[in-house]
Amino acid sequence: MDKLIIRGGTPLQGEIRISGAKNAVLPILSGALLADSPVVISNVPHLNDVTTTMELLGRMGVNLVIDEKLNIEIDSNTIQSFRAPYELVKTMRASILVLGPLLARFGKADVSLPGGCAIGTRPVDLHIKGLQAMGANIVVEDGYIKASAKRLHGARIIMETVTVTGTENLLMAATLADGQTVIENAAREPEVTDLVNFLIKMGANINGVGTDTLVIEGKEKLDGTRYRVLPDRIETGTYLVAGAITAGHVKLKDTDAKLLDSVLQKLRDAGADITTGEDWIELNMHGRRPQAVDVKTAPYPAFPTDMQAQFTALNAIANGAGSVTETVFENRFMHVQEMQRMGARVRVEGRTAYSQGIPRLTGAQVMATDLRASASLILAGLAADGETIVDRIYHIDRGYEAIEEKLRQLGASIQRKPN
Ligand code: EPU
Repeated sequence: MDKLIIRGGTPLQGEIRISGAKNAVLPILSGALLADSPVVISNVPHLNDVTTTMELLGRMGVNLVIDEKLNIEIDSNTIQSFRAPYELVKTMRASILVLGPLLARFGKADVSLPGGCAIGTRPVDLHIKGLQAMGANIVVEDGYIKASAKRLHGARIIMETVTVTGTENLLMAATLADGQTVIENAAREPEVTDLVNFLIKMGANINGVGTDTLVIEGKEKLDGTRYRVLPDRIETGTYLVAGAITAGHVKLKDTDAKLLDSVLQKLRDAGADITTGEDWIELNMHGRRPQAVDVKTAPYPAFPTDMQAQFTALNAIANGAGSVTETVFENRFMHVQEMQRMGARVRVEGRTAYSQGIPRLTGAQVMATDLRASASLILAGLAADGETIVDRIYHIDRGYEAIEEKLRQLGASIQRKPN
């Protein structure tokens, strides 16, 4: 397994390009199962989670072609199997996203239960309940969700909890159901809206785009289309924190500042000078150390849970006392212990990580248990004296395209070494 070796202390400077959003491309690739003719997806990030999704679709018999610009063409008319096996689902929970489309278009799906997860229990009960309300027969047997339906019908579904992939699964299922489906308390994350826009381009009838009430009139069929995935707001936010934590000056291109209001606000509170344009964001610390901030995660448009670990790293080297409160997942502070090994004065009490910033961390060998935690340890390494070795970086490759190349382009000293 590879590791990353970082020598901290350099203020990051320069420009990089932001990739397409992981959490948008994954539901969109699954959504392609709904179309009667081929779908072509562009701005696809080169990530292990994308490869896993392609392997999942490929094993079902779906025809996938990647062209020289890395666009992916998906033709699901050759499908032969409706199964998402455990060995793929266990590496990527987002495999659950094939459940709704398979059931709606082909009337059958066997999807392994995702099982344990480093950031909490993360059940999929709301996916199952919603599909049952739409007429699906579902049994959970031998670790698999075994679902069937002649044709799903519309239903009024009130989501007990705001769930991103839950909303996406039910939304996709509803596009081919008989009649009207209303999803209330729907997730409003930009990646959900990107999926809605993709489905509309395939001919779906969806109202309430970008709100917490989605109204879907089911269609007999959806058509193929071409679609460009939106920029990754979490990748964007991670590189902005990289700029802030090193007192640097970075410009990120091919992104969208409108997707990051809550994150940009916190970075401004931390003392960053931020300017934005149509498709770029520039952050300049003017050489200053950041100020500590108080952050509380919640569903969009509030501060994203996928950015809290990075802000925990920021607070660790900031001026003053700060806090990060996690309300979405129950156990997402695994990075704190590792940061303590780098000298960070951070402690977790209940759902909050309280920190007292120190000017510099010290390099250490650290290890992460999930994607964003890994990113936060790289950020901590960039702001540490000496060498930081981040182990188990397969998590990073699931969700950050070419992270060491991008950081090197900004002047960081970072290298990948096989173990
Ligand atoms: N929940 C339930 N029952 C369900 C579904 C969810 O109780 O049936 C609970 C979860 O346990 C959690 C809360 O609802 O406490 C929110 O979870 P959600 O379902 O929204 O998470 P998800 O859809 O599994 C997506 C992203 C995550 C991101 C969360 C929250 C994808 C592929 N994944 O997960 O991304 O953290 O939404 O925004 O879209 C990441 O990229 O690193 C990542 C973990």
